[in-house]
Amino acid sequence: MKSILITGGCGFIGSNLAVAFRHAGAAVTVFDNLSRRGSELLMLRVLDRGGRFVRGDIRAPEDLDRLEGDFDLLIECSAEPSVLVGTQGADARFMLNNNLVGSLNCFEWARARRVPVLFLSTSRVYPYDAINARSFRETRTRFEPAETAPGFGPGGIGLDFPLAGARSLYGATKLASEIILQEYARQYDLPALIDRCSVLAGPWQLGKVDQGVFTHWLACHYFNKPLTYIGFGGHGKQVRDLLHVEDLADLVLKQAARIGEFRGEIFQVGGSVFANLSLCETTEICRALTGHRMDIGMDPADRPADLRWFVMDNGGTPDRFDWRPHRGPKQILKDTYDWLRQHEASFKKIFTP
Ligand SMILES: NC(=O)c1ccc[n+]([C@@H]2O[C@H](COP(=O)([O-])OP(=O)(O)OC[C@H]3O[C@@H](n4cnc5c(N)ncnc54)[C@H](O)[C@@H]3O)[C@@H](O)[C@H]2O)c1
Repeated sequence: MKSILITGGCGFIGSNLAVAFRHAGAAVTVFDNLSRRGSELLMLRVLDRGGRFVRGDIRAPEDLDRLEGDFDLLIECSAEPSVLVGTQGADARFMLNNNLVGSLNCFEWARARRVPVLFLSTSRVYPYDAINARSFRETRTRFEPAETAPGFGPGGIGLDFPLAGARSLYGATKLASEIILQEYARQYDLPALIDRCSVLAGPWQLGKVDQGVFTHWLACHYFNKPLTYIGFGGHGKQVRDLLHVEDLADLVLKQAARIGEFRGEIFQVGGSVFANLSLCETTEICRALTGHRMDIGMDPADRPADLRWFVMDNGGTPDRFDWRPHRGPKQILKDTYDWLRQHEASFKKIFTP
């Protein structure tokens, strides 16, 4: 891979991928409208590593059209990633335009220029009511599956989990983009691959309550900000798997080298059974790292679209790419903590607005 274009390249994932591709010797262009608070700081990191920045908006096809140069791969990483949009009555038009229309503009640009596409999708394509309706047992610190069903069991949620049901507007836009990209791959013989990712975490994530929960939890401990266990009884026993962004980068580098083989295949990508935590387990690690032992509030009422348990079953992804997650939960949080300490002055205003 000689030349990579990353849309949303000044976001958490995009900027980390940009740095990884620069490290591997590729020319990297990051395209971003800098709408995410703090993305201008991540842009500086990419520039510092020799990346090129183009300011533009994926909702505007003309911004994409004026991109100069030849590209071997487009990695589509831009999104409004909040799962809460639409759940509190707010207008969904911004999200639909940004995530759905925006990614379709990217695919159309790639079709016209014959540039292969790697699309970052999300585990939020799976319907939340159907997951929460499965049977779970409660241990001292977490929920665990108490049954197996198609696509569901102690090994995680797999590609064959039934897709019927509400998934949030965010999840719906990503699923729609997946389907359209698969059509592009088939109808136009366009090399394309979809990574369906569960929670990503690690350094340079500007975590918020509705996106980047592990970094948010750690940053609240670090900056002594109040926290509450919300939903499922208010004990913090809900579980997510988490993947270190550098583990993701290792995978994407391997996939990029073989992109010509794929025509829209979906790969499950997450920390999986190897790396997952409940919120109250996360609290213990955050307390140990920061030395701050603050009280955490309890709000037993469930929040819309929230999940009792999600662990990604990576299925065939590890064998297909000779890849597996290497960085466990404690290392992910420790790396994030070290980054926070090192860059506190720059990022404090993002975490404590
Ligand atoms: N972070 C996660 O845990 C996670 C998990 C699964 C999937 N994903 C997917 O990965 C991708 C990247 O997520 P992230 O965590 O890096 O998010 P992020 O918010 O950190 O980055 C998104 C970037 O896109 C830019 N952007 C937003 N709208 C744009 C537009 N219209 N035009 C140009 N740029 C625009 C933002 O300024 C930001 O820099 C998203 O598609 C998301 O759905 C993320």
